[in-house]
Amino acid sequence: MALISDTQPWKDLKAHVDDINQTHLRDLLTDDNRCQSMLVDFDDILLDYSRQQATPETIQKLFQLAEAASLKEKINRMYSGEHINSTEDRSVLHVALRASRDAVIQSDGKNVVPEVWKVLDQIQEFSERVRNGSWVGATGKPLKDVVAIGIGGSFLGPLFVHTALQTDPEAIESARGRQLRFLANVDPIDVARNITGLNPETTLVVVVSKTFTTAETMLNARTLREWISSALGPSAVAKHMVAVSTNLTLVEKFGIDPNNAFAFWDWVGGRYSVCSAVGVLPLSLQYGFSVIEKFLRGASSIDQHFYSQPFEKNIPVLLGLLSIWNVSFLGYPARVSMESNGKGVSIDGVPLPFEAGEIDFGEPGTNGQHSFYQLIHQGRVIPCDFIGVVKSQQPVFLKGEVVSNHDELMSNFFAQPDALAYGKTADQLQKENVSPHLISHKTFSGNRPSLSLLLPSLNAYNIGQLLAIYEHRIAVEGFIWGINSFDQWGVELGKSLATQVRKQLNASRTKGEPVQGFNFSTSTMLTRYLQASSD
Ligand code: F6P
Repeated sequence: MALISDTQPWKDLKAHVDDINQTHLRDLLTDDNRCQSMLVDFDDILLDYSRQQATPETIQKLFQLAEAASLKEKINRMYSGEHINSTEDRSVLHVALRASRDAVIQSDGKNVVPEVWKVLDQIQEFSERVRNGSWVGATGKPLKDVVAIGIGGSFLGPLFVHTALQTDPEAIESARGRQLRFLANVDPIDVARNITGLNPETTLVVVVSKTFTTAETMLNARTLREWISSALGPSAVAKHMVAVSTNLTLVEKFGIDPNNAFAFWDWVGGRYSVCSAVGVLPLSLQYGFSVIEKFLRGASSIDQHFYSQPFEKNIPVLLGLLSIWNVSFLGYPARVSMESNGKGVSIDGVPLPFEAGEIDFGEPGTNGQHSFYQLIHQGRVIPCDFIGVVKSQQPVFLKGEVVSNHDELMSNFFAQPDALAYGKTADQLQKENVSPHLISHKTFSGNRPSLSLLLPSLNAYNIGQLLAIYEHRIAVEGFIWGINSFDQWGVELGKSLATQVRKQLNASRTKGEPVQGFNFSTSTMLTRYLQASSD
């Protein structure tokens, strides 16, 4: 099976690295025509990728690579519901989760949009009843707090949206008097932290699990079921626990009334599920359905953009291609900015002779500057995404200060990309009369790539757009690398080894069986753990 690395455009890009290594961003940034061609404006979002180590020629070569990888055809196949997640024989249709009510999106010959809206309507009705107090707990009190239990994709996406919405005035207003907490980790400390200060009488627990079998989530769900039933009696569970899952049979078996279960479907990857009931239910309980509907509309606007725009104006496509350029050609292994890339084989199972994934990390605003920016300025070259917003929703203007707090933050948004691109030469430092012994310490090589995304604001709509841009970027990368971005077999090995350990702990504790079948190191640690924890 042919790998993308065997194609001519890949080889051309490899050869082109030498040309790029002769350039410096300091010089590339003097070419206004180049910079102008590296701006994309869509729906008040501005993407500026002029600080990438790339010329218009690089971008053309990347488009040729996209063509060789049949990127447009693959995007179309995703939108038309083909089983592009071939290892699990599934469609990949998270775009249907935010499609308008009248859209038609088929999976296995069936339009899935009506089912999506049926669940959205169910969420709207339920969340309104909880919020307006017509759905009450077992003792007749309104449920003002929600604990969402879930892990991985059933946690991180909703947490991202929740975090981002916490400063939006409309969201703040609609969340007044309510709390949303997330319980993911199985560490009992996390359980304690999550329920501290909560009263079971006024708490609703949402168990979020695609499979309804994930060990950590199910243990946390049993723990909170016990917390509720020991305080209010077992019959209270029906009023205080609801579920989000594709596995409604297991939901019922767990003891949650199927009428209080919110479905989603196997064509929604766990890591792409925030726009399903996974995110929409807990977030609507906290912020109201109308706010979350705006989030869905934002994501949908990017879905249409991604589907319809030519590559040169297509933000997720450009972001994806630039990632490929940085990872597979320039050899930068990390990026400052959840996903399922990072595979060792192609979608056909052929070992890859190149890395197909990067290490992502990031930090809000200037916190990054005061922690790991030293590394990105003078240490390793790590391409950065800077994401800024034009209007702060919580502006602060202090008397006597020349710039607002938001301007202060944004000064860094504008300055850092240039600091990375230009660096500082020994010559400049000499002219500034820097002591000779400090010159090498204060020299910055520059030529460090970044891109900037400027959003109008951080309201629910823009948060939806941001999410969809990054979701589609992952898909673009995977389509080009020729890997499956929608499965995650790599995570399974850890899960099965944990099951083996769990069995051993159980056997040792209940039947006194000795630790066996593990290597020296694990056996020693396990034995010690068993002995010390039973003292
Ligand atoms: O292990 C990874 C993963 O399968 C994610 O894809 C998923 O989001 C998470 O575990 C939780 O799975 P579930 O939603 O089935 O509990």
